[in-house]
Amino acid sequence: MKNVECEIGMIGLGVMGINMVLNFTDHGFSAAGFDKDKAKVGALNKAAEDRKAFGAGSLDEFIKLLKKPRKVMMLVPAGAPVDAVIDELLPYLDPGDMIIDGGNSHFTDTNKRFKELGEKGIHFLGVGISGGESGARFGPSMMPGGPEEAYELVRPIFEAASAKYKNENCVTYLGPGSAGHYVKMVHNGIEYGLMQLISESYDLMKRGFGLSNEQLQKVFSEWNKKELQSFLIEITADIFAKKDDTTGGSLIDKILDEAKQKGTGKWTSEDAMEIQVPLPTIDAAVSMRDMSAYKTEREKASEILYGPDTKIEEDNQPFIKQLESALYFSMVTTYAQGMAMLRSASKEYNYNINLKDVAKIWRGGCIIRAALLEDIRSAFEKNPDLPNLLVDPSLSKQILNRQEDVRAIIKTAVECGIPVPAFAASIGYFDSYRSAWLPANLVQAQRDYFGAHTYERIDEKGTFHTQWNHV
Ligand code: 6PG
Repeated sequence: MKNVECEIGMIGLGVMGINMVLNFTDHGFSAAGFDKDKAKVGALNKAAEDRKAFGAGSLDEFIKLLKKPRKVMMLVPAGAPVDAVIDELLPYLDPGDMIIDGGNSHFTDTNKRFKELGEKGIHFLGVGISGGESGARFGPSMMPGGPEEAYELVRPIFEAASAKYKNENCVTYLGPGSAGHYVKMVHNGIEYGLMQLISESYDLMKRGFGLSNEQLQKVFSEWNKKELQSFLIEITADIFAKKDDTTGGSLIDKILDEAKQKGTGKWTSEDAMEIQVPLPTIDAAVSMRDMSAYKTEREKASEILYGPDTKIEEDNQPFIKQLESALYFSMVTTYAQGMAMLRSASKEYNYNINLKDVAKIWRGGCIIRAALLEDIRSAFEKNPDLPNLLVDPSLSKQILNRQEDVRAIIKTAVECGIPVPAFAASIGYFDSYRSAWLPANLVQAQRDYFGAHTYERIDEKGTFHTQWNHV
């Protein structure tokens, strides 16, 4: 191994790390790998076969395998492990070397690391990577942020390794500092919203209509052939077909209804509140993951509280068509919320993010890839200043025609007592965004009444305060 000079190194050889290394080397690049777990290093050396992939037994050995300026990527859990790796690496690095964090780090941590490493002359890239295990192995969507000149040094490797959508790379430079990790965070917020909408559709068909898993599998695979075509719909169809090895029944029915979360959806909602961007579908999705975790309380409550418990009486075929249309409407509004957040965040944090590029690199490889993203890309190509996807002439035409379907679905769900908070949030977003007037005048009057917070008038400039009562 003495004369090896690897173009990139990877710290963290978990399933994502090892797969990324194999992916890089599939494209002719040489890569070194290091993990404290010797078994993982051994696994890389075994999997390497005749590829230029080299697992190192120590950090010292790993560093010696790297060509200068060194490019060290890490795929370790977000938070303290990232800082621990940086601290261990630093004594081995020289100014001009580069550290790349490919995990789901919080963007504020990325900003801090970017600043601290920059002071030491070390380049730092924060790169969102989406697509799970198979994405890492065969082509993920990659969302890099940081100094553009540093990105240029790894661009050929990333472009080769990224997913392709009709021969176009699903990676592009997104902006300075934490831009890449911010875009990945919003990607995950959208992911939460879409997953919740799909789960509500499942609930309506299962509890509302009593559809079997076999029938659900058929519905989702039919949906995946048309405008809803997307990775999440595709895997949902697969899930309903999967049998449990132990019981032979459907695996889905054996899975506990408590959804876990690593935090990226919550971070999206938190920062949306911070920069004052409305994100109701994503907020609802985060809340519903929290609600799902109250399993024991829900079980007890179900013995005390009752609701309509009605089945849907209508013919199920027209209803399923309506649901398909309502889901499409709500998916569009979810992407619209995420994109509107990126637009505001780009201004707030000086990222200068190009939304067309974001849509472009999300068309392949990532969890939220969907046929719809090509329409979204084209909307931002036609009008880079589009304030919201809902007012794009072509998308607005598509959703205006479907609003009656969403309203009908929600009405039925409420009558049957089936919770559809993400569908309700989506139509609520649409109805409020299209309202030239909202009842916020009353909120202002109340604030002024109890706290003298003042209000503005529609017919006169200035701020006003009224003595509302005479006590
Ligand atoms: C991706 C996924 C990935 C991960 C999520 C899961 O884009 O590949 O988003 O990053 O699966 O972080 O998030 P939760 O554990 O919060 O559901």
